[in-house]
Amino acid sequence: MSGKNFYITTPIYYPSGKPHMGHAYSSIIADIFARFKRLENYNVRFLTGTDEHGLKIQREAEKNSKQPKAFCDELSLKFKSLSKTLNLSNNDFIRTTEKRHHKAVNEIWNRLVKSNDIYLSKYSGWYSVSDEAYYDSDEIESKNNIKVAKVSGSRVEWVEEESFFFKLSSWEKKLLDFYQSNPNFILPKSRRNEVVEFVKGGLKDLSVSRTSFSWGIPVPKNNKHIIYVWLDALTNYLSSLDFPDQNDIKYKNFWPADVHIIGKDILRFHAIYWPAFLMAAKLPLPKRVYGHGWILSDEKKMSKSLGNILDPLEIINEYGIDPLRYYLVKEVSLGNDGSISLKSLHDCINNDLANNYGNLCQRVFSFVEKNCDSKIPNFTNLLKEDEIITKNLIEKIPDLQNLMNKQDLNQYIKEVINFSFSANKYFNDLKPWDLKKVNIERMNAVIYTVLNQIKSISILLYPIIPDSTHKVLDCLGVPKNEFNLDCLLNLKYLKTDLSIKKPGILFKKIENDN
Ligand code: MSP
Repeated sequence: MSGKNFYITTPIYYPSGKPHMGHAYSSIIADIFARFKRLENYNVRFLTGTDEHGLKIQREAEKNSKQPKAFCDELSLKFKSLSKTLNLSNNDFIRTTEKRHHKAVNEIWNRLVKSNDIYLSKYSGWYSVSDEAYYDSDEIESKNNIKVAKVSGSRVEWVEEESFFFKLSSWEKKLLDFYQSNPNFILPKSRRNEVVEFVKGGLKDLSVSRTSFSWGIPVPKNNKHIIYVWLDALTNYLSSLDFPDQNDIKYKNFWPADVHIIGKDILRFHAIYWPAFLMAAKLPLPKRVYGHGWILSDEKKMSKSLGNILDPLEIINEYGIDPLRYYLVKEVSLGNDGSISLKSLHDCINNDLANNYGNLCQRVFSFVEKNCDSKIPNFTNLLKEDEIITKNLIEKIPDLQNLMNKQDLNQYIKEVINFSFSANKYFNDLKPWDLKKVNIERMNAVIYTVLNQIKSISILLYPIIPDSTHKVLDCLGVPKNEFNLDCLLNLKYLKTDLSIKKPGILFKKIENDN
């Protein structure tokens, strides 16, 4: 291991229904960054899991006539299995019903009590069970005589009960100072501005316990109160590291987290509450919170009632996981909302995958099979045009690293897929099929160069489409320990004379209007 550590997390999902495209999106993005950091030789810890407590889950279980734990066991499995289907490279899957998590939450609670940040009072105000969030009167509106939260449109109910409060108001100034001295803590910038404005508007103390239901972690030494599900859930990022054991190697290596990937709807919890809890608990704060936008279907939020849900499992069954991964991150600009549709999925598969990268691999491997005895050809010298195409890609790698390290996934993909376009063009322009008749030496040099391009492009695309690129790299005889950027930067070229296999069809072209 390199000694460089990197900790990345997805939100933990409410197992209140079956997983949908929004969940798949958060997870795929986080997986891409996790895999990329591994290409940079980081020791990566990637966490995902399920958020199983609270009234929302309790009610959902009741609706299904199940005990909450049994209900969660069943649905949590669906999310675990989705992680496999999405080909996530997570090292841990946390459930908030686990013992290790209870231990961590208890410790956080006790620390907040010790720092004098918790007091007992009474909460009266609005609560959305669907968002598991408290709202002020100016944050709600009436729709068809029903009170809903403006931001999410979800129904709110009036709550009046004894509650423990966290002194959030006393952290206002410290939070603003923190945002100022850590300008990249919240990304993208637009979201950072929203949060700063919100905090500047004034923070009220936060109710952090409920007494009207039982499904959750009881307040230490006071079983009447259940800890607020967000204080419980956010702590998962620590429980996976065996906190409160701060001597544990996991905690030492991976806390503070490098980036929490979340959707924009849960920014307030991660960018305001979470750092305030941590400051009060005297623990280091995560380095970054990245709030991605929403996936829309035909410009509208995907929802059951609109009937415009694209089910990730159906898409994967039909087209495979790599096309879905590639499509979601190519089509939707990471920080913004973006629309998806079957038509644009088809176009993306055809244009970028089947006709570009897939085609490059197919035609070059076929050529090698027919004309080079299925071996990486030997050659004597390379010409300027060969060196240029190789150099162009290698020289771009530091820029690509910068893009990924600031989560500019869209530009990264654009640049990498352009290399594939250039490699196709190089192959077309140099016409190895003609060279074969007149200059075998030259043909060999061209094929060698383009095979190396395929290797480099496959490594760069590996975080996004791990299955297909792995197949190609296997066929080229590249061992897994060479799936990294150092090998590219150190010009570790393919071995000549090595027999190579032809990959099967990587991406099926889709006939439109079918
Ligand atoms: N349980 C909380 C998170 C706790 S993290 C300590 C939660 N769960 S969730 O299941 O409702 O949502 C999880 C993630 O899915 C959020 O990041 C949310 O933004 C994302 N998405 C849900 N629907 C979405 C879209 N339509 N588009 C993109 N992502 C959205 O919130």
